[in-house]
Amino acid sequence: MESRRLNIATVPSPCFVIETEPLKRNLEKLRQVRDACGLRILFAQKSFASYAVYPIIADALNGVCASGLWEARLGHTKFDGEVHTYSPAYRDDEMAEIFSLSHTVVFNSATQLRHFTPVIAQYRPKTQVGIRINPECSVTDTPLYDPCTPYSRLGIRQSNIGDVDFSMVDGLHFHALCEQTSYALEKVLLAVERNFASQLAVVKWLNMGGGHFITQPEYNTDHLISIIRAFQERHPHLQLYMEPGGAVVLNAGRLVTTVLDILPGSPKNVILDISCTCHTPDVLEMPYRPAIEGEVPVRETPHTYRIGGVSCLAGDVFGEYGFSQPLARGDKLSFLDMAQYSIVKTTMFNGVRHPAIAVYDSTTENLEIVRQFSFTDFVNRL
Ligand SMILES: Cc1ncc(COP(=O)(O)O)c(C=O)c1O
Repeated sequence: MESRRLNIATVPSPCFVIETEPLKRNLEKLRQVRDACGLRILFAQKSFASYAVYPIIADALNGVCASGLWEARLGHTKFDGEVHTYSPAYRDDEMAEIFSLSHTVVFNSATQLRHFTPVIAQYRPKTQVGIRINPECSVTDTPLYDPCTPYSRLGIRQSNIGDVDFSMVDGLHFHALCEQTSYALEKVLLAVERNFASQLAVVKWLNMGGGHFITQPEYNTDHLISIIRAFQERHPHLQLYMEPGGAVVLNAGRLVTTVLDILPGSPKNVILDISCTCHTPDVLEMPYRPAIEGEVPVRETPHTYRIGGVSCLAGDVFGEYGFSQPLARGDKLSFLDMAQYSIVKTTMFNGVRHPAIAVYDSTTENLEIVRQFSFTDFVNRL
């Protein structure tokens, strides 16, 4: 069916728009990889949890991974598939419910595993138990996103693996990648085999975490399939999982915003009806500069602007952008690739109006507003 581009004039502002066609394209690619090498692929809800489109994702993937009780409940009620839960530590008053909702529960330390022995005994083997290992193989440049730094609190190192009672363990989990290639995964898998050979031999499954940027155009899926198949041949008793988040919704959403004011200067400052710190915090944390639809390189145009948000934070700035025409108050702009790690991370700092959430299907041109936020939502969090 023919796809039509979203006409942003028809979108209320501000608004996150989830686009189903790019989402389905990403899912098709993931499904092909999964089917080529017998993987089970889970969707990491931490990256995106707008459950209006969960039926589309559930159609292609095996289940979700959850970061704790609330995501486990969300996955259990809204996603037709398995629920796999991992948290760096669990609360006593949540553990039984997490076990009752999950297919696997992964522990971060030998002490947590020991502490929860009575709950494990009650729910296992119906709910299986894993431990997170730390492969101690850094492949991520940004320390903020590297779980394998020397002082990392994430996962059990080889030197401490002797503390784990493997009579209670069914599987291993690692997460060491962030927006990475199959070549980075290959390195980490070798480190896992080197450091945890005897543990790999006694468990039933291995979860390779997230950070696999499979839907990025340059990602070499043939290489991924070949290394997974080779690993599987070396360990035929293991069921392999991975749990990408960002790759599932890469380029499958935008944030539509309106110019509220343009201030004199060189370049001129633009104030939008959204905020970087409230609605796209990764832009400041990572940091990175999100693309705006229709922008042109700043060196190729006199119409350049320093584009910022409406909060009081001095650094609430997306970056410098160029356009072929001058901007005017009331113009609508569209930030691209805004589904991953944006909607799930928003705040109502400064009482800034929260963007609505809409779903757009370009084959039918249907734009459905699924959530709108009001003063009551702001007050109810305070
Ligand atoms: C344990 C775990 N699994 C999966 C993911 C998803 O990673 P990504 O969205 O980069 O694929 C993360 C991200 O931090 C994670 O910590």
